[in-house]
Amino acid sequence: MPDAWAEIEKKCLTCTDCPLGQTRTKLVFGVGNKNADIIFVGEGPGENEDLQGEPFVGKAGQLLDKYLYHVGLDRTDNIYIANIVKCRPPHNRDPLPEEQDCCIKWLRAQIKLMKPKIIVCLGRIAAQKIISPEFRVTKEHGQFYERKGIYLMGTYHPAALLRNPRQKPETLQDFVKLHDKIAELCPDFEFSGD
Ligand code: URA
Repeated sequence: MPDAWAEIEKKCLTCTDCPLGQTRTKLVFGVGNKNADIIFVGEGPGENEDLQGEPFVGKAGQLLDKYLYHVGLDRTDNIYIANIVKCRPPHNRDPLPEEQDCCIKWLRAQIKLMKPKIIVCLGRIAAQKIISPEFRVTKEHGQFYERKGIYLMGTYHPAALLRNPRQKPETLQDFVKLHDKIAELCPDFEFSGD
């Protein structure tokens, strides 16, 4: 059977549906366990991600790894991490709505293959694209919304926490809620460190 993941990644590599592919260094398709029950979604690659071809490897990514570790999650083991757009927007600007609209098909294809039970949106851009255009991170972070059997949750983007550390305790609480939701929905889930 052909490897469906490899097929879509190969197609994504040569995608020219928006201009971001012309200025990026590396495609940032995603990292982690493709059979995981949980997928984390950020907005798009930054400078370090663009150079290394992996999501969340800069300072924000190091902070994300700490929150993951705190609740027994690990990017190489029991989750998958991807972004709304797979190529770096120049100068780290927000991905434009039309770039998001072009690129979302790749994330949809990843989600279709993974069949995750939980999608965690990191920051406003991901939450507004996946949960609701009206999503307000300050008001709705940590709340789960069920849609077609998948639980969706938005929390602060780790880069926002680097700028505004006062929101760190709330974010930690969101990760603890996530841990409890995983335990409820996936009784056989293997938390790392257990
Ligand atoms: N910010 C994101 O939203 N995604 C990354 O991969 C890195 C930083």
